[in-house]
Amino acid sequence: MLTERTKIAVLVSGGGTNLQALIDANIQAGEIVLVVSSQAGAYALERAKNAGIASCAVERKAYPSQEAFEAALIATLEEKGIELIILAGYLTILSADFTAKYPNRILNIHPSLIPSFCGKGYYGLRVHEEALRRGVKLTGATVHFVNEIPDGGEILLQKAVAVEPDDTPKTLQRRVMEQAEWKLLPQAAELVSERIRREKNERV
Ligand code: GRF
Repeated sequence: MLTERTKIAVLVSGGGTNLQALIDANIQAGEIVLVVSSQAGAYALERAKNAGIASCAVERKAYPSQEAFEAALIATLEEKGIELIILAGYLTILSADFTAKYPNRILNIHPSLIPSFCGKGYYGLRVHEEALRRGVKLTGATVHFVNEIPDGGEILLQKAVAVEPDDTPKTLQRRVMEQAEWKLLPQAAELVSERIRREKNERV
């Protein structure tokens, strides 16, 4: 018999459409038991509430140091027994100490085909502005494990999306979300949840 489902926390900062895709996908091997926002007013928190998922805000500005902030975040995660952390539009920087604590246990979605348009400073619309400026014909999204290098961890899944001649950063962002991000993130969550569950099962 398989052990219980992998306990997932989704970390968010904004609208939470990727969180919504994860909720709607009804992952089999994992269960979203916690949503943590870096902003108290994020709409993603409403989405969590509507889905009956425990949620809270842990804001960097509420703490005197990065260490104190991360200690509070870790305590929140540990209280729920979190085994997999998914960064879904999460904009607060996490230190190497934090990422080292969860090797192969943190996933991030990035709205480009890494290694293009990624790393420090590449977030939100900026990624799509640069893709259009460079004139690429294909862009997409990447789900990768998170380590101490921004967008530098092992790539798990990628999906390409065509750039259209009349695209603006906004239309491109929307297409990348619809065609890639909202599909890829639930797939990755299922894959890694299953992996973690199997590992636990082997230990039992
Ligand atoms: C997405 O484009 C994601 O790839 C990026 O931030 C955006 C988050 O959107 N990292 P949402 O909050 O999931 O709607």
